[in-house]
Amino acid sequence: MPGLFMRLVDQQREPCHFFVNGTPCTARLGDTIMTALLTLNEHLRLTEFTGSPRAGFCLMGACQDCLVLQENGERVRACSTLLQENMRFVIPGQNR
Ligand code: FES
Repeated sequence: MPGLFMRLVDQQREPCHFFVNGTPCTARLGDTIMTALLTLNEHLRLTEFTGSPRAGFCLMGACQDCLVLQENGERVRACSTLLQENMRFVIPGQNR
């Protein structure tokens, strides 16, 4: 299933490798974590209250709706943090 975002430009930027639920994935250097994840997936996390999928709200680092869990247990704002090589994320409800 395609992600929520579609990459329209910068398709030739250097690749940046990361993992979602242990599965290797590739985005582009300079992508935010949100761009990298939502190009592949439909959500970033599930709410603690209802389990409904979330994909961010403000997109500018203010609301924390885009917090994603890393394998090391730390959470990071996906909308305002650049993806780094070999980051590892845990996204509940995603097969990759
Ligand atoms: S979407 Fe609001 S802080 Fe990231």
